[in-house]
Amino acid sequence: MRKYYLGPEPSHEVPFKKLLAISHYIMPNFATLEWDRVSREQVDENLRSLQDPGGALNDELMMYIHVPYCQSFCHYCNFNKNHYPWQDEERLQRYTDYLIKEIDYYLSLPYVQARRFTAIYIGGGSPSTLPVSAVERLFGHMAKAVPGFDTIEKTFTGEPRTLRKPDLLKVIHDYGFDRVTFGIETLNPEIHKQIGRWDSRSDVDAVFEGLQKLGYKGDRCVDLMYDLPGQSLVGFQEELATLVEHYRPDEIDAFGTVYLPYRPLHKLILDGRVPQPGSIWQLLRMREHLYDYLLENGYHNTIAETYSRKPQRSMYQTAHCARQDIIGIGCAARSNIKDMVSINPDKVDVWMNNIDQYGVSTQTLQSIGRGGVLDRIMVMFPRYKELSKELLDRYSDVEHFEQVEDVLRSHIEVGCVEEQEDRYVVNKLGVIWHGNLQTDYMERSLNLQGKVLLKVISEKESDFDREERFKVNTATRFIAKHIDKYPKLMK
Ligand SMILES: C[S@@+](CC[C@H](N)C(=O)[O-])C[C@H]1O[C@@H](n2cnc3c(N)ncnc32)[C@H](O)[C@@H]1O
Ligand code: SF4
Repeated sequence: MRKYYLGPEPSHEVPFKKLLAISHYIMPNFATLEWDRVSREQVDENLRSLQDPGGALNDELMMYIHVPYCQSFCHYCNFNKNHYPWQDEERLQRYTDYLIKEIDYYLSLPYVQARRFTAIYIGGGSPSTLPVSAVERLFGHMAKAVPGFDTIEKTFTGEPRTLRKPDLLKVIHDYGFDRVTFGIETLNPEIHKQIGRWDSRSDVDAVFEGLQKLGYKGDRCVDLMYDLPGQSLVGFQEELATLVEHYRPDEIDAFGTVYLPYRPLHKLILDGRVPQPGSIWQLLRMREHLYDYLLENGYHNTIAETYSRKPQRSMYQTAHCARQDIIGIGCAARSNIKDMVSINPDKVDVWMNNIDQYGVSTQTLQSIGRGGVLDRIMVMFPRYKELSKELLDRYSDVEHFEQVEDVLRSHIEVGCVEEQEDRYVVNKLGVIWHGNLQTDYMERSLNLQGKVLLKVISEKESDFDREERFKVNTATRFIAKHIDKYPKLMK
């Protein structure tokens, strides 16, 4: 395989003027829309339009269910989550009651009834913090209410400490969940402590062993992070080898660490209490090593950050890739319905109050038009690596279609994208630089918050050797001042 940053004679390719140090799967959530602008009347009208089964962009639909609780907070994490209410089982049971109410609202809509379900994804936070009886109640309800529940792909997310409960694993297995996903992040105990994780190797072992004892045949998916504080290339290479040889996970989601300004991990680094991560050249080498090592060891790079033993993407990933409809259930969950998008309220109380008052929590459901849908397909293309020409052509009537084509052509010219007969495909160099490819499609529609964040996460080639990655400057101060405009995110 061609070497760009590793081996005896790397080419050191720098296809763009700057490296976008993080990928933007999180940014379309807030960086291109003023979410609070839409009126209640407009939301109600948009919801009423779902009484009509027509107007779909495609026939398939998936359901994402968010559970925003964790036993403790990891320093790096910016997902929507709340402190796990210790010994307050009643609150977690109540959260589950409202999940069921919101699921039932959507299932009663003619628009939803006319679509075909492809997947259910229960994510977080850490849904494994729910009492086992609540999980059982939720699954039991969905098994009766969701069409095709027995055959569609079903994913459950946990943190190792709570996921390991044998009775929880049994319920997951009994209801036919075929994907279990949880965070390992690093196998280096020192770094593990520095990023604020409280689980241990024995928790991780217990999850793998518990699933094996049950005869679970589904996918065991783990999250791994790289470019972590104080992490060296050799250290990362050793961790990856141990992960693959010791646990042989079916899927590895490998995330380059996102150091969001003024979130806890960034502050700890600025205060000198946690070491800086390595240089940008090292980051590029880590990305290349992930790609080469995992492909040599039986994995397929199904989407930019995902390596799977199966050659095909999961249904969950395909749903985002083809921009299928997604119904977001729970606090802070995101929906794509027709040409509309929404994010549910991120505070549990507001989410529940809205369900009591309107039957459904969204207060942001709004149309982004076909132009907006095209932009989102294109922003996600570098992550999903494939774009069918047929899908792209369906949007040729959009006003800025030619601009989009120009960007695509420029990515072919710099050697990150290849044109095939029926599709465009992102190659290895494009995977390594996929944050840049995404940014090029997003840049025209970014709002002020998005533009400032882009500045903070862009690294000039002249700085690729810099040892100190994070400093305070005007842009980071702007983010600190407007931190409420940088909302908590979900996957
Ligand atoms: C919902 S959690 C995974 C499940 C469970 N809560 C756990 O931590 O074990 C989401 C995953 O996103 C990744 N993630 C979260 N914040 C991140 C950040 N700032 N940079 C990179 N990856 C991040 C981590 O790999 C984390 O495991
Ligand atoms: S990484 Fe997982 S366990 Fe840690 S705070 Fe985020 S969602 Fe919770």
